[in-house]
Amino acid sequence: AGTIRATLFPGDGIGPEIAKAVKQVFSAVQVPIEWEEHYVGTVVDPKTGSFITWNSMESVRQCGIGLKGPMATPIGKGHKSLNLTLRKELGLYANVRPCLSIPGYKTRYDDVDLITIRENTEGEYSGLEHQVVRGVVESLKIITRQASIRVAEYAFHYAKLHGRKRVSAIHKANIMKKTDGLFLQCCREVAEKYPDLVYEEVIIDNCCMMLVKNPALFDVLVMPNLYGDIISDLCAGLIGGLGLTPSGNIGDNGLALMEAVHGTAPDIAGKNMANPTALLLSSVMMLKHLKMNEPAEKIHKSILKTIADGKWRTFDLGGSTSCSDYTKAVIDNL
Ligand code: IPM
Ligand code: MN
Repeated sequence: AGTIRATLFPGDGIGPEIAKAVKQVFSAVQVPIEWEEHYVGTVVDPKTGSFITWNSMESVRQCGIGLKGPMATPIGKGHKSLNLTLRKELGLYANVRPCLSIPGYKTRYDDVDLITIRENTEGEYSGLEHQVVRGVVESLKIITRQASIRVAEYAFHYAKLHGRKRVSAIHKANIMKKTDGLFLQCCREVAEKYPDLVYEEVIIDNCCMMLVKNPALFDVLVMPNLYGDIISDLCAGLIGGLGLTPSGNIGDNGLALMEAVHGTAPDIAGKNMANPTALLLSSVMMLKHLKMNEPAEKIHKSILKTIADGKWRTFDLGGSTSCSDYTKAVIDNL
């Protein structure tokens, strides 16, 4: 069988350590993936206006599939976030963030099973902020019909495909009448094409309260960019934190770049203390996206077994197992 080429961005901070874990697990399973490894630059590439090089972006376009570690947002005027550059330039319009309880890692909540689908290209993330006069700044929240319909369609299609029952559109249209109003209007239009799915609209503050009281009230949640950023962290907290939650950035023609929901964790970088689970689960999502279900299941089961064992808990989960020992345990459990 032929191998598939996939882009790998190890990223910054803990990125290289957790990316190494993925590479080791993939070798152990002999997953037929050949990585095209790309690092974040240290100078702005004039072709992209960012530390993300044109070459690395081309690699994702050509492979059509990739896995990325966390990337630090460079400080200083005029530096664009690398994460946002990738999402925007590659047209990765839907960010799918599944959040499922890990059996064997106990939290206050059992059987959490939530899918956050986040609009990934606009909203407050449009990068349009400026000072009007001293002491007054302005930020433009862009909501378009095109991007809202596109992400709503993705969410409903996803819900149907995965046998889900309910889609909740999360908003603040009581205050953001025009922007969130348009987003809701688009969700409503798409909902009409899916009469078998329950559709509801929930205001974001109330949604947060309901999520922490009883996550089982929700199923698939679709929302504008910034709300999705916040809600997906809240959901991660329900199951044990950001060490455990994967995500997928999805674009047209099957283009997909999977990544962990967490950041670079500079405080523990280089100390072999990171939990590679979120990136490993992101790599499982990547394999499923490629329809490579067999290695995906194998790796997924082994991760769950390793965590359920209780002996191999990384620091974020209250244990003292190193990133490399945890990875070794996952490989032994394959
Ligand atoms: C995420 C992250 C990013 C975001 C940051 C790193 C730009 O928090 O993927 O959720 O805000 O989208
Ligand atoms: Mn975030």
